[in-house]
Amino acid sequence: MAGAVLYRDKGCGFCHGASLEGTKKAPALAEIRKQKAMTNEKISNQILDGGTKMPPFRESLSDEEIQQLIAFLRSKNRPVPPPPAAPQQ
Ligand code: HEC
Repeated sequence: MAGAVLYRDKGCGFCHGASLEGTKKAPALAEIRKQKAMTNEKISNQILDGGTKMPPFRESLSDEEIQQLIAFLRSKNRPVPPPPAAPQQ
């Protein structure tokens, strides 16, 4: 799933946790699809403009990529983002 790869490669997981479980840096996103107040528009604005502690991604994500990220965050059986391609030891 494209959104899962973006989530990993754009560093979302660094703050929100590799499995969307949240970290000290940022809230969990795992339950976001159940939050009725979190419309696609709000999610998209948060990603485009950032928040108080979240950086904006307006410059680094295309509209299509944002839609893919939203689809990923909204999916019911969310695929686990593939592990980063670590250099072979
Ligand atoms: C530097 C840490 C950081 C990164 C990187 C980051 N976020 Fe965030 N994010 C936050 C913080 C902190 C919040 C809470 C609101 C605020 O302070 O902006 C947040 C809030 C959100 C929210 C709203 C959650 C809610 O329930 O209100 C969404 C959706 C979100 N982030 C998605 C993403 C996506 C998608 C990416 C990758 C493109 C990403 N974030 C990257 C720190 C981060």
